[in-house]
Amino acid sequence: MSALADHDYSHINVTPLTGIMGAEIDGVDLTSGLSDAVVAEIEQAFADHCVIIFRNQYLEPEDQKRFTRLFGEFGVEPYVKTMPEHPEVIEVIKEATEIGVKNFGGNWHSDWSFQEAPPRATILHAKEVPPFGGDTMFANMYMAFETLSRGMQRMLEGMRVVHSARRPYGVDNKLFGTAKRAMTIINTEEAHAELSHPAVRTVPQTGRKALFINPVYSIRFEDMTEAESRPILDFLNAHSTRAEFTCRVRWQPGTLTMWDNRCVQHNAMNDYDGFRRRLHRTTVAGARPSL
Ligand code: SIN
Repeated sequence: MSALADHDYSHINVTPLTGIMGAEIDGVDLTSGLSDAVVAEIEQAFADHCVIIFRNQYLEPEDQKRFTRLFGEFGVEPYVKTMPEHPEVIEVIKEATEIGVKNFGGNWHSDWSFQEAPPRATILHAKEVPPFGGDTMFANMYMAFETLSRGMQRMLEGMRVVHSARRPYGVDNKLFGTAKRAMTIINTEEAHAELSHPAVRTVPQTGRKALFINPVYSIRFEDMTEAESRPILDFLNAHSTRAEFTCRVRWQPGTLTMWDNRCVQHNAMNDYDGFRRRLHRTTVAGARPSL
């Protein structure tokens, strides 16, 4: 099984991570001004591989913001306190003292899928990493859709899914609990709002259809109860994250990973208790999902 598109690159080197998705890109210094030709090739690699990884990039927040803006406007960051001098940047941090504490991003999800126009891309840059563990896993939602039966595909193409931020960010949040943590999570009534998106979305740059559901924010199908929706959502959540649809990024200080939030879910591993992990995260604004 392989889902890789085959393009030639003349300004960057692209090395696939798996036959399904993910690629390491080298031959580019993200602190320098990038030419239009280089940016166009990064966009091509992004479309081809969904998750792109740059190593040994030592960026200040200003550099990361400049890089982010090459791909669009900044996304809106709700429910998590951003860096005081950089409201576009979230510091994703878990301290060595946060033993047994739920980590930020530690469930399969697509970033902010409860927004009317969820981010197109997320860019995460590692500053400090544990000596082992703390990898991020990615699941390819094109593959999740394309490997369903035609009957299931047809059914889902006609359905909408209700998303809400209430599980992690609602007033009765069950996901993060009340443990003391370095990151400030904002729990509010607003997070209980609901909004629906198509269950399947087309990514304009590739023309491919991706399943657009995730276990954190997808609550139920529109016009159906949670109990009616649950068996189908459970099946789809398990199917989407099958090992053969995933890749895994091992972080080093200076690693920058950019993923396509429209066709990828991610899950941050929480297997490094006793060590500090710190990354800077920005998002690129997206459009309203459509089939
Ligand atoms: C996130 O969900 O954005 C965080 C991912 C990570 O820390 O690896």
